[in-house]
Amino acid sequence: MKIVILISGRGSNMQALLEADLPVEFACVISNRADAKGLEIAAAHGVPTCMLNHRDYPDRAAYDTALAAEIDRHAPDLVILAGFMRVLSDAFVQYFERRLINIHPALLPAFPGLNTHERAIAGGVKLHGCTVHFVTPEVDAGPILVQAAVPVLPDDTPASLAARVLRQEHRIYPMAVRWFAEGRITWREDGTVAMRGLADATDSALVSPSD
Ligand code: GRF
Repeated sequence: MKIVILISGRGSNMQALLEADLPVEFACVISNRADAKGLEIAAAHGVPTCMLNHRDYPDRAAYDTALAAEIDRHAPDLVILAGFMRVLSDAFVQYFERRLINIHPALLPAFPGLNTHERAIAGGVKLHGCTVHFVTPEVDAGPILVQAAVPVLPDDTPASLAARVLRQEHRIYPMAVRWFAEGRITWREDGTVAMRGLADATDSALVSPSD
């Protein structure tokens, strides 16, 4: 199973994937920003890197065409968005349909888009979390593979909540990729995802607040 990861910055989810001892080959990490910290981390792990600056292209369609061509050079089975901070064109998403996944820092369908931790605190929710999902043309709305929930605590700031969620991101993204590599994931006709051979957490619950 060959994988290409797209990043724009810090690359902590990418790092969690590279260090998870997955039964996959990381063919390339591509960044749209030259200063992405994740590029150094990938290189330190011996993974080939590539920088494709969106500013070098006249528009989104031209950039996405070049990006798809660069990805295709590696013929990946799966393309992973790990903090890739660009909206992708419908054509790009459709081209990689069913082999393009993303991690979003909220329990989708709650809080799609940006500033999820601020919005979770402002909304007074008691549980927040993260979601790994297939990417579809509608942003942050594709079939869900796995989610992790964390409590929102009374004194949380967006930063403290983000850190709590990020620890779970680093846990569930490698899980989802492993399941994908093991062929356990089916995208059903109704747009939901079925998992084969995994335990259902039938009686587990995170209650927040809890006494
Ligand atoms: C993560 O919070 C992820 O959920 C979101 O962008 C952030 C990327 O962080 N899509 P990192 O680059 O993986 O550290």
